[in-house]
Amino acid sequence: MGLAGFLALFGIGTEKKSAGPRGTAASRAAAAKSAAGQSPASHDSRSAADEKQARDLEKSRAKLRAVRGRNKIDIWKRYEPIRSSISGTMSSFYMAREKAGGAIVGLKVLDPKKCAPIEGRYKGLGKPPEGEIGAQILGPNIVKTIDWGITTEGAAFVVEEFLDGALLHALLSKKEPLTPSQRLDLVRQAAGALESVHRAGFVHRDICPRNYILCSDGRLVLFDFGLTVPDKPVFLQPGNRIGTPNYMAPEVVRRRQADKRLDIFSLGVTAYEICTLSLPWPRGTTGRTALQHDSSPPDDIRTFWPQIPPALATAIMACIEADPARRPASCEDFLTRVAKVTIE
Ligand SMILES: Nc1ncnc2c1ncn2[C@@H]1O[C@H](COP(=O)(O)OP(=O)(O)OP(=O)(O)O)[C@@H](O)[C@H]1O
Ligand SMILES: [Mg+2]
Repeated sequence: MGLAGFLALFGIGTEKKSAGPRGTAASRAAAAKSAAGQSPASHDSRSAADEKQARDLEKSRAKLRAVRGRNKIDIWKRYEPIRSSISGTMSSFYMAREKAGGAIVGLKVLDPKKCAPIEGRYKGLGKPPEGEIGAQILGPNIVKTIDWGITTEGAAFVVEEFLDGALLHALLSKKEPLTPSQRLDLVRQAAGALESVHRAGFVHRDICPRNYILCSDGRLVLFDFGLTVPDKPVFLQPGNRIGTPNYMAPEVVRRRQADKRLDIFSLGVTAYEICTLSLPWPRGTTGRTALQHDSSPPDDIRTFWPQIPPALATAIMACIEADPARRPASCEDFLTRVAKVTIE
């Protein structure tokens, strides 16, 4: 079952992602800095001048967003599809060629009807649209956002770097064991990607192998910021029970206040699967699957990989602790723990 099915199971709709401006490189960098500064951890230490600057920046971004929302783009005048579309849960994705320069890009067109119910929850909170969020998250393991806006049909779209490779999910589903050094490399890259998301001041909320592509050059890249929200308590209130069940943190499924450690849990399940091709709890597609994540103990990762380096095993098992306080506090913390791991 896809995300929409899971949401329906809980009587939750799917999330709309509206569109907005891309802005200049400087304003994007400043906006990323501002979003990062708005995280609860750094809030107290900011000066009044910083606060005012952040508020002014947010106001100008909101204005630009509104203008972009009104200036609708005929995307098929700008781009021609090269392959037939891939249907995501809430969007259609096209490999496309930019007519003007010939560049090959990825074009994601969101389904307004499917996206509307969840996006509606953030009304008045100033949640940036998916494209604007993507443009603020930068890093070697992050898909590059090129542009975004609203089509003449009223659908939000995002233009991205086209990732030439295979979905991590497809790779793991083949059940062909990876070498120990490949496992370690992929775990580090997956964590590095999430570190970039958190550093930019966002919570991804759908970390799972379906949202990483392993590119032909060996780069593991995180994409799909459709459920991503600013790292602020108001966006992570109880009730926003969204994500992918096998990877979902207990505080999300139990409708408790959450924070970025919900992503650390999902990263832990993803890392566990990279290392073992199995999941810590029996696989499932419904909400009931996620209810196991604090009601029954996970299978120890050493069951599936007895020779796993102990520091790696401990770090991954810590990520999937039911109590967020027992998980690594941040991606940096997790990466520090796995930095010292070596494969014989
Ligand atoms: N930048 C990209 N380069 C190459 N392929 C991509 C890219 N972005 C998305 N895709 C492809 O399009 C599919 C759907 O994209 P995405 O996950 O962003 O949409 P979604 O509507 O949120 O779908 P889902 O619910 O399946 O995650 C992906 O599984 C992947 O196959
Ligand atoms: Mg996806």
